[in-house]
Amino acid sequence: MQTRSAIEVRPLLRSALLATLLFSTAALAETARFRVVWSGDPSTSATIGWDQLEGDNPVLYYGTKDVDGDPEKFEHSMKPTRNVPNYRGMNNMFVRLENLEADQKYYFVVKDSQQVSYQFWFRTAPDKPKAFTFVAGGDTKSYGSALVAGRESNMMTRKLRPLFVLFSGDFNSGSGLSTGRWQQWFDDWFLLTTTDDNRLTPIVPVHGNHEDGDKTVLHNLFDVPYQGDNQENIYFDTAFGNFFSILALNSQIKAEGAQTEWLEKNLKKYEDHTFKVAAYHKPFFPHTTRKRENQHLYDLWANLFFTHGLDLSFDADSHISKMTFPIRPSDEEGSHMGFIRDDKKGTMYIGEGSWGAGPRSTDDLKPWTLRAGAFNQVKWLHVFPEQDGKPARIDIRTVITAKENEAGLMIPYSHEVVPLKEGEEFNIPEGIELFNTEPYGDVITYPFSE
Ligand SMILES: [Fe+2]
Repeated sequence: MQTRSAIEVRPLLRSALLATLLFSTAALAETARFRVVWSGDPSTSATIGWDQLEGDNPVLYYGTKDVDGDPEKFEHSMKPTRNVPNYRGMNNMFVRLENLEADQKYYFVVKDSQQVSYQFWFRTAPDKPKAFTFVAGGDTKSYGSALVAGRESNMMTRKLRPLFVLFSGDFNSGSGLSTGRWQQWFDDWFLLTTTDDNRLTPIVPVHGNHEDGDKTVLHNLFDVPYQGDNQENIYFDTAFGNFFSILALNSQIKAEGAQTEWLEKNLKKYEDHTFKVAAYHKPFFPHTTRKRENQHLYDLWANLFFTHGLDLSFDADSHISKMTFPIRPSDEEGSHMGFIRDDKKGTMYIGEGSWGAGPRSTDDLKPWTLRAGAFNQVKWLHVFPEQDGKPARIDIRTVITAKENEAGLMIPYSHEVVPLKEGEEFNIPEGIELFNTEPYGDVITYPFSE
């Protein structure tokens, strides 16, 4: 029997690979796989990482002015602050930029002994409440139709031009030890999420079970911090503008003790922020029977989330789309699996992966499920501060990036979407397919009300 991937995937795969070859051989022979990473305060800092393929003594030249890539004309320069050579087949260079200006474009090039890279740029976060958009999701795979679907989500991200991506774990098939798969992931990330005008999309990476073969991997490939003196304890916070905070947790290491104490401390630290979100890989209670319950995470974290007013929680792992009503821990009548709907004070749980991974059946819905579906998708969030007497809010959309048709063929959804231009980030692009959540339509607003 001919598989759907044999029919649908090949042209896409070919064009993506062609793009990879053209891009990397034409002008980026010495530097490749650029990545911008957020941890700490992204209104003043960012980490730029890349793979130094050849050439010595790389220096990153950067500044707020577009100088057409001329290293002499940038305001600042900095040598790598960290080098992780021969790791997953890459010579990983990192520059931790500090003392940046908030809400600014930053342009940069890398110059080494052999050549100067293209000029790229990214935006810093605002340092006060200001509207922005971001994309959230998780679960990419390394081959077949799942790889192609992941590329669809990458290309969709490029077209939506978000301020950053929150990625809730599982980057590759396997246990995260494969050189080729990581190289492929970074090629895809760099080549497919970078906009036509060379804007890079910062990522907030979260550890998933497919990274469990080496639990230091996110520290070594994204330069995100670890806690204490154990490089496997990768969980961290990133927050800006007294407005928005992200607690990037790790469901794949011990949750009780130090991590949960850290969670409580940081929930308190950001209590005055308008919005607080958490991200981790394993959902407490997956919406598919193919995945086990993670009761211990519920026991440790759900009540802390509620007590400290966590707004949204992002998970992944199950390869489906789900969104719950706002819910809080409860054992009272009407509760289910320890949760009850509470539109005023509850946390909305959003996930559960399928950036690229093949969708599973949504056969484990709960009374507090708002909607779930089986397709490839990313969540697209528009975050607005309080303005003109209107309360702060987050508009949440589920963007379908690939989906099986009735004949079982995977249909790509990014190609028809007209990319948003700089300054249009809140527009709904032509050609986009949003998951319609009857009776609520295709946008769910938090705080939620009927
Ligand atoms: Fe997973």
